[in-house]
This record gives sequence, C-alpha cells and structure tokens, in this order.
Amino acid sequence: MEKKLRAGILGATGMVGQRFISLLENHPWFEVATVAASPRSAGKTYEEAVGGRWKMATPMPEAVKGLVVANVNEVDKVAESVDFVFSAVDMTKDEIKAIEEAYARTETPVVSNNSAHRWTPDVPMVVPEINSEHFEVIEAQKGRLGTTRGFIAVKPNCSIQSYTPCLAAWKEFGPREVVVTTYQAISGAGKTFKDWPEMVENIIPYIGGEEEKSEQEPLRVLGRVEQGEIVKAELPKISCQCVRVPVLNGHTAAVFINFEKKPTKEQLIEKLEGFRGFPQEAGLPSAPKQFVKYLPDDNRPQVTLDVDYENGMGVSIGRLREDTIYDYKFIGLSHNTVRGAAGGAVLCAETLTAKGFITHK
Ligand SMILES: NC(=O)c1ccc[n+]([C@@H]2O[C@H](COP(=O)([O-])OP(=O)(O)OC[C@H]3O[C@@H](n4cnc5c(N)ncnc54)[C@H](OP(=O)(O)O)[C@@H]3O)[C@@H](O)[C@H]2O)c1
Repeated sequence: MEKKLRAGILGATGMVGQRFISLLENHPWFEVATVAASPRSAGKTYEEAVGGRWKMATPMPEAVKGLVVANVNEVDKVAESVDFVFSAVDMTKDEIKAIEEAYARTETPVVSNNSAHRWTPDVPMVVPEINSEHFEVIEAQKGRLGTTRGFIAVKPNCSIQSYTPCLAAWKEFGPREVVVTTYQAISGAGKTFKDWPEMVENIIPYIGGEEEKSEQEPLRVLGRVEQGEIVKAELPKISCQCVRVPVLNGHTAAVFINFEKKPTKEQLIEKLEGFRGFPQEAGLPSAPKQFVKYLPDDNRPQVTLDVDYENGMGVSIGRLREDTIYDYKFIGLSHNTVRGAAGGAVLCAETLTAKGFITHK
C-alpha cells in the first residue's frame, strides 16, 4: 500500500487499546493517527495518560508517546483525523452502541472489539478464516444508516476462539452437541496480577455474561447472510461453563463433542491442519500461516509453551481422543487479547481493506 490508512483507537489507554497500539507498531497498511479515551485522559499526551498503566511486555512505541489523547465523545473531531477506527472503550452497552453508530454515521468505518453490536442483525461478527463472507451484510447496514462508507463490524468474544475454529473445520461431519469448560486468563478482564492479587493461587467459577456469549456467539459466526441480516446456525447445541484461572494470557477450553456422522481421529486432525480461509488466501499481513495447529503430545497445548503460536494469532489443539459418553473430547488454546481481542480486530480490518470496504477518506 502506497499511503497507509489512518487508524484511530477509541479506548486507546486501556488493556485492549494498548494491545492495538503494540500490534500496529510498524504495520504495513495502518498507522495510528489518533488515540482517544475518556475525558479523564483527554488533553494529556498518550504517555502521560497511560502513566503506570502500560501492561504490554514490549515498551510503549515512541511514535505514540507524544500523541495528544482526544475525547472519545468528540466524534466529529476524531472522525476528521482518521480513515477508520478500532473501538475498545469501556462504557455501558447503550453508550457504546450509540457512539459506534455515531462514528459510522460520520462515514468512518468502526471495527469493534466490544459486544454491544454483536447481535445487531445487519452488523457482521467475523473470524476472518471462518466467515469473512458475512461482511456482505455491510451493504444492507449502510442502507439503514444512510452512509456510503461508514459501517460497524465486530469480532466475537475471546472465549469462543479456542473451540469455534474446530467446529468450522469439522462442518462436514455435522457437529451436533458440544459441552465446553473454558479456563480464562485474567487479562480478559483487563487485569494483571498486580491489580488483581486475589487471583493469585485462586479460581473463580463465574465470569459475568460469559457463558451465554460462549454458547450463542459460535452459532452466529457459523450462520449465514439472508436478506440483509445474519441468520444464526441452529446446530451445534452448546453448553458452557466459564472459569477464571490464575493465568495472565491465554484462554484454554476443554471440549466434548458429538457429530451427526462420526469421523475418525485422523480425519479430524487432517481437517484442522488443512483449515484455511480468506486471510491465508489473500496473504494478509497479520494472518497466521497455519491457523490451527494440532499437537500430538499428551501434555500440550500448554499456556506457557503455546499461547504465542503464530504471534498469538493461531489456535493450538491437542488431546483429541474418543470419549466414553460423547464421540470425542479435546483441548484448545488461544491468546485472548491477541486472537481474542485486538489481533482479531486488526485481521478483520485487513480483510475489510482487502475487500474494499475500508479505503482512504
Ligand atoms: N481485555 C480483553 O481481553 C477483552 C476482550 C474482549 C473484549 N473486551 C472489551 O473491550 C473493552 C475494553 O476492555 P479493556 O480490558 O481494554 O478495558 P480497560 O482497560 O478498562 O480500558 C477501557 C478504555 O475505555 C476508556 N473509557 C472508560 N470509560 C470511558 C468513558 N466513560 N468514556 C470514554 N472512554 C472511556 C478508558 O479511558 P481512560 O483511560 O481515560 O479511563 C480506556 O481507554 C471492554 O468493553 C471489554 O469488555 C476486552
């Protein structure tokens, strides 16, 4: 790309916002033109506003340190300075819905990490390897919003990324019933051990709203576009328990599954390893070369060894074996703030750019 697209980050000072800043350092297509956060941070430099809250393992990029933080609520001012925005603000659901729509109406595409619009019928919710064709629904959304280039696209919840790719890869065998337990990292709550000491040596058996997302969102990702809306898939039926565990980064899922047509273990592994989508075909900058890796060792995937597979954009699967009640069981692992949050959104934005939905203003 000759001239980079100017990206704005709404909620740039938060955990996910910082991950966007890190991932976009030296990005070949996008540059961070504007950082925006709450009125508390507005007017300060990015370095001052973040202060001691920088949570990434790599240092804050020099290019953003001196940027003056804008107020997320000053929509027209922010929109003027960017070609599109990533959204990772922490506000109420209604406030997020309204502000993301306000940005879209200024003809600014919004690629959101938030859950507010995940069930808006004409907003696509995409894992680019699985359902990039859902972006087609944007034309209907633009009709509703009365825009020519402004729209909202979202990525799904971090918890589903460790098992939904398997359901997509195994589609032809007809996944029918799925029982999942997720073991979720504390960064999914925007926390580190320093600011959540109660999590050291602890397990908390409740994450508000997470089980419903983990049961329902895969069905929307596996659904189809019909008359300008996303229609969710009816199967598989999914039952999920979500547990917070003392891990910094990496959501693990333990999964049991029944199929319409029971495949062999070899067939299942072959489908996982061969699973590719638009990002691989198009050679997008953040696309993992191999989206899903199968690990044959009994003690894998492990968070410390496998969470950064493909720079945190790949999914690791292991321990696939026959079960005594279900057809099979297995373990999945993905990086919750990379593939599950900012990285997944960056890959959506790359897909939208390659498909011509995000352009220079
Ligand atoms: N962490 C994850 O892995 C993850 C995964 C998926 C989705 N999410 C979702 O992504 C969003 C951000 O999560 P996070 O963990 O990054 O949260 P966070 O660390 O608390 O950051 C929140 C960001 O929103 C801004 N903000 C807060 N209140 C605001 C207001 N009233 N008006 C405007 N801006 C406001 C903050 O600005 P100030 O610094 O100025 O306060 C900050 O930039 C949340 O909705 C969360 O549910 C998080």
